[in-house]
Amino acid sequence: MSVLPATSETIAAAGERLRAGGLVAFPTETVYGLGADATNGRAVAAIYTAKGRPRFNPLIVHVADLDSARALAVFCPRAERIAAAFWPGAVTLVLPRRTEATVADLVTAGLETIAVRVPAHRLALALLAATGRPLAAPSANRSGRISPTTAAHVASDLGERVDVILDGGPCAIGVESAIVDLSGDRPALLRPGGIAGGAIETVLGERLDRMVKVDPQRPVAPGQLESHYAPAARVRLQASVAFPGEGLLAFGSDEPAHGGPVVNLSPGGDLAEAAANLFGALRRLDATGVAGIAVVAIPSEGLGEAINDRLLRAAAPRPQ
Ligand code: TXA
Ligand code: MG
Repeated sequence: MSVLPATSETIAAAGERLRAGGLVAFPTETVYGLGADATNGRAVAAIYTAKGRPRFNPLIVHVADLDSARALAVFCPRAERIAAAFWPGAVTLVLPRRTEATVADLVTAGLETIAVRVPAHRLALALLAATGRPLAAPSANRSGRISPTTAAHVASDLGERVDVILDGGPCAIGVESAIVDLSGDRPALLRPGGIAGGAIETVLGERLDRMVKVDPQRPVAPGQLESHYAPAARVRLQASVAFPGEGLLAFGSDEPAHGGPVVNLSPGGDLAEAAANLFGALRRLDATGVAGIAVVAIPSEGLGEAINDRLLRAAAPRPQ
């Protein structure tokens, strides 16, 4: 594995590796992706091996532009509106897959729908151009771990399991894309993410159905949420203080006093800054060796919905 600063030469070389069936981790504006040629079933299979994913979850297909997305998926008027408003950007659309779409069946896990997105990061777009193929890319972490927002996170998680890591610095948004399912009668937000659900609703002029109601005030029933995005430390939400042995994940100016490790996601109370810092902050607190992480209440508006979704999953009961 080599971590390479992203330059026109390293991007061209990474494109060659992808065309030859290799795995390349690359920055997007949300999180780092673990990319493979979406038209090559063996390359896509290697993603699952590298991540240690137990099941074949369908993957997001990244494309260079709207026309490339239209070649893979059937666009409805709602899809056109969202793409016009937010692409390139942090929203993924789940749409009916075109029968003639050239992606490997493993990418869609045999579904009749496909998840597509045009990323906004200039290096992701340069890599797509260099490869000339759609790229299947889940977040570049091992299954169940926190999504990576720096090249160093990718290297520590995947190491030799990936051929090349393109280093483009920290990701600006820091949480994964919002996923909107437009394949049914009603539009549904499958995953809150880097574009706020409310902003998408404004563009659509209608409400999105939500799969998981993210209400940090209400306890989550065990089993309601799959454990995911999990640090090693136990995560405790809605904390007004941190106990000895815990790290504190704070937000805003009203930070509880704590003798142990503290990371404030945004002392100024900015939810976009908090989203960008979230996964790195969980990793930093985890690296101190604390047994638990106490997380203060974070407002659920705007990007707060995505932040609270990830925190709920980090706090959900773990398998075993
Ligand atoms: O920001 C992001 O979306 C990042 C960057 C790398 O682009 N990618 C990412 O991919 O988060 P991943 O694989 O970690 O998450 C993909 C999600 C999964 O929850 C999967 O179930 C859902 O997308 N998905 C993919 N195809 C789908 C489909 N046809 N129907 C429903 N859900 C789908
Ligand atoms: Mg992921």
